This record gives sequence, C-alpha cells and structure tokens, in this order.
Amino acid sequence: MWLLRLNMNISTEVRRSYELRPYPVVGKRIWNQPRWRLPPPKWIEAMWQRVRVPERILVAGCGTGMEAFAIARRFKHSEVVGVDFSPRSIAIARHLQKRQAGLRHVRFVVGDITTRHLVNTVGNDFDLISCHGVLSYIPQTRRAFDNFARCLTPHGALYLGVNGVRHFSATWRPALAKLGFQLAEFEDGKELRQALRLCEALDSHNAPRIANRGAEYLAGDLFGPLIHNWPLARWMSLAQSAGLHFLGSYYAHRALRPIFKDDLYRQLLPRSRAETHMFVELLSPSRFHSLLFVTQPRPNPPWQNASALLRWRARSTDLYTCRWPKRRRLWRKLRRVQLKSVSTNTVVDLSVPEWELEILRQADGKQTLEQLLAGLGKRVPANVVRDRVYSHYLLVSVNLVSAD
Ligand SMILES: C[S@@+](CC[C@H](N)C(=O)[O-])C[C@H]1O[C@@H](n2cnc3c(N)ncnc32)[C@H](O)[C@@H]1O
Repeated sequence: MWLLRLNMNISTEVRRSYELRPYPVVGKRIWNQPRWRLPPPKWIEAMWQRVRVPERILVAGCGTGMEAFAIARRFKHSEVVGVDFSPRSIAIARHLQKRQAGLRHVRFVVGDITTRHLVNTVGNDFDLISCHGVLSYIPQTRRAFDNFARCLTPHGALYLGVNGVRHFSATWRPALAKLGFQLAEFEDGKELRQALRLCEALDSHNAPRIANRGAEYLAGDLFGPLIHNWPLARWMSLAQSAGLHFLGSYYAHRALRPIFKDDLYRQLLPRSRAETHMFVELLSPSRFHSLLFVTQPRPNPPWQNASALLRWRARSTDLYTCRWPKRRRLWRKLRRVQLKSVSTNTVVDLSVPEWELEILRQADGKQTLEQLLAGLGKRVPANVVRDRVYSHYLLVSVNLVSAD
C-alpha cells in the first residue's frame, strides 16, 4: 500500500513538473520542422518487416506534440493519436495543430499511460506505438508496458526511447547532490549553471553539452523525483513480461559496423540480431536506447544447420542502396561493392563473390536461398553461403523468412 502511495506521489510530482514546464518548449522554428525522434524509418521498416503502412499510430507521452507532428508528416495516411497526462501540454499541442496545415489526421487526448483505462481513452488496434523520453521518468513502467501490449495489433511494433546506464544523469545527479543541490526539485540559477559547467568540465565520457540547456530539459532529464538509467536487459525484461519481443537496438545496430571489415561477424554466429545487440550492450552500454519490440516472436534462422538455412527465403531490404557492378560469370573472382545507407550514415565496403551479388540482386522474398543458387547453376558449400548471408542479416541488408 505504501509503495502504491509513493508511486502516486512520484507520478503527481512528474505531472506537476510537466504542467509547469511543458516539453519540448516550442519556438517557431521547431514546430515548422519538428524533429524526427525515432530511429530512421528505413531501419524500422527493415527490422519490423512490415509491408503495409501503419494505419494507427500512438504517441505515448507526446508532450507539446512535436513527436506526433513529425510522425504525422511522415505517415500522411495514418491516424495518429497523441496522449499525455499533462493537460497544459495537450492544450499547447492542439493549439499548434490548428496553426499548421496537413495535420487533420492527428488527435490529442489527455490520459495517463499507466492507468488501466488507457485503452478506453485512446482505443486499441495500434500498428505502431512510439514512446520517446517518457518511461525513464515514471514509477509504474510495468503498467505502461502492459498497456502498450494491450493497445497493439497482433503484428504491431513498439518504439521505445529510454535512458541507458551511461546517461549523463547517472553520474551528474550524485555529483550535484554532493555539491548540495536538491535533486527532487529543480531550481534554476547562476549557482546551478556554474555547477553544471563544472560537471561538464570534469566528465570524461564526452557528456553532451548540458550547462546551457533550457530549464524544461534540465527539470525533466536531470532533476525530478526519479530517473531510470537502466541497462538494455532491464528494459527488455519489462517488455517481455508484458508479452513483447525485442527486435533490436538502433544504437547496437550502428555499433556493429566495424565487425564487417575483417569477417569478425562470424564470431557472433549463431546469434539472432536481438542477441547480438544484447552482446554489444555488454561491451558498450548505451547512453540512450532506441529500441524496437514486436508483438509476434521472430524466429532466429537455423544458423547452426546450414542446409536447413538454404530452405529459407531471402528478401533484400531497402536500408541500403548499391551500384551493382556489371554481371560477369567469373565465379572465383571477388567483386568490390559498396552498400550505402544514407539514413543510418553507413557505408560498407565489401569484396564478394559473384554468387553473393546475385543473391543480393535477386532476393525478393519469393525464392529460397537454395532456389536462388540453383538458378545460377553454381554449387557453393552450404556453410560458406550461411556465413555470408549471416553478415547481411546482421547488416539488415537481407531478411530471412521461413519457407514453411
Ligand atoms: C520528456 S517529455 C517527452 C515528450 C515527447 N515524447 C518528446 O520526445 O518530444 C515526457 C512527457 O511524458 C509525459 N508523461 C510522463 N508520465 C506520463 C504518464 N504516466 N502518462 C502520460 N504522459 C506522461 C509528460 O507529461 C511529458 O509531456
């Protein structure tokens, strides 16, 4: 009972703080060009493997609406619902919506994402839920996950932006406490700004520039009654308890980029994408997680049984573009190709045999790897195919679907 009361007190404090300082503060420049807060759409699409445009999208903890506006501009034919428990934030969001054209498909509602009534407030059947910068600051995270799972369609996805163990507040809060500042209550002033400059100067982990940030940012991201700076495993386990399945982390996806140079990726076999991303977190914990979860489990292709793998269908994703070299039937020669992904700022230089190029060119999700190779009239040992396809699976240049 006392825990429930404590949680309610914290929740009231959080709401009071956002009522006082709605987030984000909206300047004209910001609402004209709202920032895209999710990982690049092409990465989400490639990971999620959804073919149709999401019909309904929920922005959970939408604040003054910037995240919802950015999503609505991208998904012009989806219905977008923004929910926040701060009536003042929702009032600002509605006001801004009226001042912009092309946002009729957005609806803002006041509601608490941790109450059982959330479904009644926002409805269900959401194909996508976006929750950015919210769950790190609320006490009843488990309830929010349960609600998200309830609100999603059977093939829905949840994007979650939450703090990691290396979030700057993990070290700055104890440091500020040592300097005599009360963390539960934000009070701006010269003293505080000097203390923040001191933290910035002494922080050896290249902390982002904080000392000049606005009061609304500091009040939520550094001060306040609680901040969860949790490792990936903790966020995953909360989502799993609600029946959601971890697909991947955008931070880990990018951190994997160096392993394709010297074939280091082979060391990670037979791990799924999700498992490799968990491995990355062990060595390189993130400051901020950008995570993707889905309602249906995604089977890991049979990497340990290369012949069984050949019976899986391969589909190239749209994450990369490639200028294909001219076709030559020189099977022994390695060809140089460059996979480019503008959205993830990635360039991968590969030296690959012609049969691998053909797989990449022709993988349309209809043919199995076996059929693709048979069409070439080329015999390649199954484990050699497995290794190369695994690199593309980790790069998210190719997806694999069971033919059953
Ligand atoms: C840091 S802001 C993020 C706003 C928005 N997601 C963005 O990134 O621009 C956090 C928002 O979550 C809202 N929030 C916190 N706890 C909530 C809850 N239990 N239910 C609904 N909204 C909540 C706050 O009112 C605040 O507007």
